Amino acid sequence: MEIIKIDNVVKVYNAYKDAKEAMALDGININIKDGDFVGIMGPSGSGKTTLLNMLSGVDKPTSGEIIIKDQSINDMSKDKLALFRRKNIGYIFQDFNLLDSLTLKENIAIPLILDKLNPNDVENRVKELMKLFDIYDLANKYPYNVSGGQKQKVAVARALVNNPSVIFADEPTGNLDSKSTSNIMNIISNINKEIKSTVLMVTHDPFAASFCNRIVFIKDGKVKMEIASSGNRKDFFDRILEVQSVIGGE
Ligand SMILES: Nc1ncnc2c1ncn2[C@@H]1O[C@H](COP(=O)(O)OP(=O)(O)O)[C@@H](O)[C@H]1O
Ligand SMILES: [Mg+2]
Repeated sequence: MEIIKIDNVVKVYNAYKDAKEAMALDGININIKDGDFVGIMGPSGSGKTTLLNMLSGVDKPTSGEIIIKDQSINDMSKDKLALFRRKNIGYIFQDFNLLDSLTLKENIAIPLILDKLNPNDVENRVKELMKLFDIYDLANKYPYNVSGGQKQKVAVARALVNNPSVIFADEPTGNLDSKSTSNIMNIISNINKEIKSTVLMVTHDPFAASFCNRIVFIKDGKVKMEIASSGNRKDFFDRILEVQSVIGGE
């Protein structure tokens, strides 16, 4: 079953006379199956962030449609979209987006508190995730007291706390060293396999991308190529490098 359909999405910024120049997305079609783990790659300026902004409802396409769980998110009212996002979607940002005045535990709990879950359930769920991510010892520390890798674990935990069926990640390992990158990618990969969350991740890092099942390469706002993993990560990594050398990386 398809959980996400990106149907002929066009995004033109500042539609002046010379519209060609501002065509950030030029008719993107991508279908994503429930439980898939898809990477989006492409050179700088190819439209990756624009596409994620359309998918998350931060911005609207100029034309075309985005359907998530059988609902068109383009036509939703602001309130309906906010609720839909809270119920169905988790976000992982490159720069973590943690609140410095809250402890790590509180940062993870935010989505549940917004959903008015009872405090005992919040406590249990946050504890469960912190244990899973091996950061329970850090529960009462603040973001400025922990490492980048630990902050990213908190950001991932927060994205997962409400059991989203869809996870969007924008360069989730962009600020991390290789050990933390492995760590985070293993966590995201396990969540995809065990909880069956569908993951869509934008990355320019072939190593992070090699954890995906499928990579869609975009350039100049168009889908240029797609490759699927045979299950061997090293093989997939090599093929990603090959395609990148043809299409152009970051
Ligand atoms: N808010 C904006 N206003 C005008 N042009 C934009 C805006 N955001 C992005 N663009 C343009 O759209 C194209 C795609 O950008 P972006 O989606 O950020 O690419 P990527 O994330 O792949 O680097 C680029 O040419 C960029 O300059
Ligand atoms: Mg970008």
